[in-house]
Amino acid sequence: MTPHIEAKENEIAKIVIMPGDPVRAKLIADKFLEDAKLVSNVRGMNTFTGTYKGTKVTIMPSGMGIPSMGIYSYELFKFYNVDKIIKVGTCGSYSKDLDLGDLVLVNGSYSESTYAKVQDNVEDEIMYASDYINFYLRETAEELNKHITIANIHCSDVFYEEDETLKKKLYDKYGCMACEMESFALFHNAKKFGKKAAQILTVTDNLITGERASSENRQNDVMTMIEIAMESVIKL
Ligand code: HPA
Repeated sequence: MTPHIEAKENEIAKIVIMPGDPVRAKLIADKFLEDAKLVSNVRGMNTFTGTYKGTKVTIMPSGMGIPSMGIYSYELFKFYNVDKIIKVGTCGSYSKDLDLGDLVLVNGSYSESTYAKVQDNVEDEIMYASDYINFYLRETAEELNKHITIANIHCSDVFYEEDETLKKKLYDKYGCMACEMESFALFHNAKKFGKKAAQILTVTDNLITGERASSENRQNDVMTMIEIAMESVIKL
């Protein structure tokens, strides 16, 4: 037990899939897990452990943003001895090369966040995903015939970014092709504890044209991404 997770230690698998949204966590558990059991529900963060094709896996929501992901990934790695976390999320595109529905495999996560500095006095501004997990995510996407773009992204504290010069600046300086809100804390904590983490994303918002995916398309596209994550889990 931790302040934010009430599961017993053996009730959390060594591999955890994290969507942001608790509702999506339940949808994933219902669709993909066998023998799913609710193992924690602190603050409504419904967390399920079951098996997928024989591999034990936990589905746990991260909530939105670096602070929320920071808390849950810290507690999972440190107190539950979790080895690997794959975040499945949505993102806004900064690039004309990424359309609604496209899939992104994150390489580096740039952030202005003080998370790593405040927690560990680390001043790096880019945190990296695990090459090991990324290899399998990429291979699985290929096997399922799904195109996935490998990219650096911006991990922002701000959903409603209204500085119109920012996207181009971050694209030019760090190659950020899209924007989300959790990976920096996840990748930093994985590195801190000697664990592995990765993130795949579905583009749901185009921050250049202002287009936003309908909720029906969001749900379908997101399920493709989750299938890639689940099929990768059995190889890791
Ligand atoms: N910004 C940040 N995170 C996001 C976005 C966005 O536009 N869309 C989905 N996740």
